Amino acid sequence: MSILHKSDCTNEDPWRAAWAQQAPDRSLQVYPDLGEVETIRYALVWDPPAGLLASLPNLEVIFSIGAGIDHIAKDPERPKHLPVVRMVEDGLTAGMTEFVVLSVLWHHRDMAAYAVQQNSGLWQEIEPKLAKDRKVGFLGMGALAGAAAAKLCILGFRLHGWSRSPKQVPGVIMHHGEAGLAEVLGESEILVCLLPLTAATEGIMNRRTFAQLPEGAAFVNVGRGGLVVEEDLLAALNCGQVGSATLDVFRQEPLRAGSPFWSHPKVVVTPHIAAKTMAESAVASVMANIRRFEAGEAMLNVVDFERGY
Ligand code: GLV
Repeated sequence: MSILHKSDCTNEDPWRAAWAQQAPDRSLQVYPDLGEVETIRYALVWDPPAGLLASLPNLEVIFSIGAGIDHIAKDPERPKHLPVVRMVEDGLTAGMTEFVVLSVLWHHRDMAAYAVQQNSGLWQEIEPKLAKDRKVGFLGMGALAGAAAAKLCILGFRLHGWSRSPKQVPGVIMHHGEAGLAEVLGESEILVCLLPLTAATEGIMNRRTFAQLPEGAAFVNVGRGGLVVEEDLLAALNCGQVGSATLDVFRQEPLRAGSPFWSHPKVVVTPHIAAKTMAESAVASVMANIRRFEAGEAMLNVVDFERGY
């Protein structure tokens, strides 16, 4: 019985070490070395090539290395009868919390405007606001957004959130559904987008929805590039409807050379690094689920393909 590991890491050593330490009795195949394919029962993957999962005859569970599973769902040959498990692990959650808090504070304290001022040698104060007077909205209120919102709540921000179905989150005024989307956008001086990419969320941030933000709002995308109509974001930035943005994810990654986002004075571009799955805690999370599965218990964080996450 073996586990297939396929990531996009250049250095697999932390993964090999975590597997060796936490699953010493399991044999590990690190892609592209599949070994004896009949022995592979579990696969932990990021962006598997189309057909890879279907080529494993005795595969029982597919684990995603990422919180998002769009990189697995896009494989037309994905064996649809097998459960797919989203990654929920403390390292990823902690990293996302750090990045969201950093980005919200960056926009809250007008750092994009100060960067522009510095570029032209301008020494000029922008009237500051305190967190208690700043409204931050979240699109998506899963494990990652919930953890980040909890820290922003401690800082005193006024938080609004939007989820697919009704949900209670401590310290966050929650909205849902189509009407709720307009409500949360209208309240978001800083909008953090942390939705999964599904048929229902593709292009959710577009000309119409950017126009529903307060004028000059900041936009932080740490979900997926496909959530945004990029030309509409650019137009919203250029006319001032969106005042500044932090973009960690793009429709095409790596972001193409020559994309106007690279040099846009109001935009921070990062290369999809907001949160990284950490080998040690991720393997612990996968192994806990494998033990549940082998004991005949329900696994945690199994994807519901009807919902799309
Ligand atoms: C990264 O993008 C993830 O899905 O965790």
